[in-house]
Amino acid sequence: MAQNLLQGKKGIIFGALDEKSIAWKTAKRCVEQGAQIVLTNAPIALRMGEIKKLAEECNAPVIPADITNMDDLNNLFTQSMEHFGGKIDFVLHSVGMSINMRKGRPYTDLDYDFTHKTMDISAISLHRVLQTAYKLDALNEHASVVALTYIAAQRVFPDYSEMADAKAMLESVARSFGYHYGIKNKVRINTISQSPVRTTAGSGVKGFDDFINFAEEMSPLGNASADQCADYTVTLFSDLTRMVTMQNLYHDGGFSSTGVTMAVLDKK
Ligand SMILES: NC(=O)c1ccc[n+]([C@@H]2O[C@H](COP(=O)([O-])OP(=O)(O)OC[C@H]3O[C@@H](n4cnc5c(N)ncnc54)[C@H](O)[C@@H]3O)[C@@H](O)[C@H]2O)c1
Repeated sequence: MAQNLLQGKKGIIFGALDEKSIAWKTAKRCVEQGAQIVLTNAPIALRMGEIKKLAEECNAPVIPADITNMDDLNNLFTQSMEHFGGKIDFVLHSVGMSINMRKGRPYTDLDYDFTHKTMDISAISLHRVLQTAYKLDALNEHASVVALTYIAAQRVFPDYSEMADAKAMLESVARSFGYHYGIKNKVRINTISQSPVRTTAGSGVKGFDDFINFAEEMSPLGNASADQCADYTVTLFSDLTRMVTMQNLYHDGGFSSTGVTMAVLDKK
């Protein structure tokens, strides 16, 4: 499937933890389509070591950055530009974590210190990344930034807890910064609202297996896989979508437009 949609483009991929990660699959697909990439993740995630395999396969350097740390982000963009010998054409933000969910705290009993951390990692981090790039003038004209989100930003999925609030903010940051960066140098910023997939972050949601099966039955095309998400992301990084910006784009097999399906009703 080598159409070379990203020939000559250079990008930074946040969030590849292991082979299941959406960012892992996207990194591979970007390179298959002709891009050069830099991989990044939190230092603690890098210590687990799996990313080295991906880095070798993609011939990509790994530059550690905690996405909530401005010095790390400055260093990441500066070093990436040195590595590429120029500015950056695309960025994938594939980062999320709920501390309250990890600690088993329900939505009606949040620890707000944890909530602040959740918001910083999962939502404010997109602003941090964009502001860093903006101030360093690190992105080329028509560069494309994609962040991954979930439909719990629009509708209630009780076990998604505080992450729903984080995703609502993430989508808002994409719109708001999309305006400013569009005016500055035609950079486009979008969120992809993805079907549930079994990854480390995804599996942190209580009752995830039942939920993924329900979503499958509620989607006329079935759930979109992580590989398919990677394909879709490549189109948004390509020049074929130059006028798409400030959008929340559903990549969910039709789930978001479906009220009910016979598959769900027949189970009653
Ligand atoms: N899996 C799903 O069902 C699903 C559905 C819709 C959207 N998403 C979103 O997709 C994105 C990627 O998640 P995934 O499902 O591939 O899971 P994942 O666990 O593989 O990826 C999450 C990544 O966030 C990174 N991260 C956490 N804290 C960080 C920090 N402080 N600094 C830098 N990186 C940090 C982790 O190391 C990890 O690589 C997330 O935003 C998630 O909310 C996932």
